Amino acid sequence: MSNKIPQNRITWNSQIGFLLAAVGSAVGLGNIWRFSYMTFKFGGGAFLVPYFVALIVAGIPLVILEYGLGHRELGASPLSFSRVRPNWEWAGWWMPISAMFGIMLYYSVVIGYCLIYLFLSINLTWGSDTQTFFFDSLLHISDSPLNLGGIQLSVASATLFVWTICWIICYKEVNRGIERACKIFIPLLFILTLILVGWGITLPGAFHGIKAYLIPDWGKLRDFQVWTAAFGQIFFTLSLGFGIMITYASYLPRRTNIYSNALLTSWIDCLFSFIAGFAVFSVIGFMAFEKGLPITEVIKGGPQLAFVVYPEAINNLPFLRSIFGICFFSVLFLAGISSGISLIEAFSCALRDKFGWDRKKVVSVICLLGFLGSLIFTTRGGLHIIDIVDHFITHYALILGGIIECYIVGWLLKAKLLRKHVNNAMGSSKLKVKPWWDVCIRYITPAALIIILLQSLIQELKTPYEGYPLEAIILFGVDWLIIVLIVSVVFTFYPWKSELLHRKHLPEEDHLLV
Ligand code: PFF
Repeated sequence: MSNKIPQNRITWNSQIGFLLAAVGSAVGLGNIWRFSYMTFKFGGGAFLVPYFVALIVAGIPLVILEYGLGHRELGASPLSFSRVRPNWEWAGWWMPISAMFGIMLYYSVVIGYCLIYLFLSINLTWGSDTQTFFFDSLLHISDSPLNLGGIQLSVASATLFVWTICWIICYKEVNRGIERACKIFIPLLFILTLILVGWGITLPGAFHGIKAYLIPDWGKLRDFQVWTAAFGQIFFTLSLGFGIMITYASYLPRRTNIYSNALLTSWIDCLFSFIAGFAVFSVIGFMAFEKGLPITEVIKGGPQLAFVVYPEAINNLPFLRSIFGICFFSVLFLAGISSGISLIEAFSCALRDKFGWDRKKVVSVICLLGFLGSLIFTTRGGLHIIDIVDHFITHYALILGGIIECYIVGWLLKAKLLRKHVNNAMGSSKLKVKPWWDVCIRYITPAALIIILLQSLIQELKTPYEGYPLEAIILFGVDWLIIVLIVSVVFTFYPWKSELLHRKHLPEEDHLLV
């Protein structure tokens, strides 16, 4: 065994366990409502072009990078980055902190909505006016993100339940908690999704929905926003820039096929989105058919797609309505939980690496703080804040994380060295990462990401996001990013608990694979 492996580092029980956990992280709420709506909004089938370009140019190269780095450095992102260059440790904190306290806080609330709707499906208690039910009866939504109003008890209770489940799973070591949970959740998630697709496409009118989903509007490709949206979606869907994949790969055994795992995770995730789109659009086509309206009139964005449009479609189904509802919201719930736990693991591993704290204590504190932080999203203004925070984190924090990773690995560590590590770890496998990957990580991927980031910034300065008041954007978007940066830097100043873990990596160790 290499002398750089901490003796007590846990590994996954099996390769398939790792793959299921990684797919569990990637396949989330983003694959179902986020992907479907984006595809529709940004040119139907034509959106698939920038989407696959983003997958090839940034997605797959960065999954290989994150897996390779975590596997080589045996730590979460702060440890991995600081072993390459200690003064870049702050960036390793930036990723899990911005994701944990940006994305996970609202994500857990949205999983809470799914849970509520799962129970409501039993008697279709949302009634015939699903829009009024969601916005007024459930959320009591306010008119502005600055008008918070009180916490909504039903949403807060569901959110507490979500954090409790995450806590139970993450409390145990990764091979007993996350690995076991994903071995059950992911097959179930795939089976339920296939049932929904099979059911959906046989409904009357489904064909029109699928046509709206897939028929390309090539003109849209001239709009740069479509490209920025595609890159943002690839980052979100592959859980890139969160520090998750680095952490998960750090639990892999020394001999492992990183390349095929990276390809499998990326393609399974994208294929899942594509297939789930059929379930979403066939049902929307059915609803448009039932109401005699064009698809454009019935489709809505973001959470509304799942919590307004879908329940209404379920109301109109000819039979087994409750079962359909239960299947759909279970899919969202399972997808959400398997992603949420991956982020808690990434952050808790980062803290354990640095301070040597006990897993159980760290996870308990994170889940408690996480729940308390989520409460802001359960207020009457919560849904507006979700929209702003989601926009800022996906368009800026994740993309920035990706650029920094490319710089650290491509230029400071040298891409070639990490590629050699990945190829060494694969032993005699014929599949090897080729030098094209170095070119991607050093030039192509960062260049594409910088262009996307600048373009988003220019757009932002021209028109504030979704016409929200500038104060709200600064308060919940920009301030959020600045606070995360300050916290990341503060963490960096604390000394490492274990010098052995933190000591500088010796390149010759790359040959010490078992
Ligand atoms: N890949 C996830 C998705 O598409 O929904 C993104 C994600 C969100 C991962 C929240 C982890 C998380 F906690």
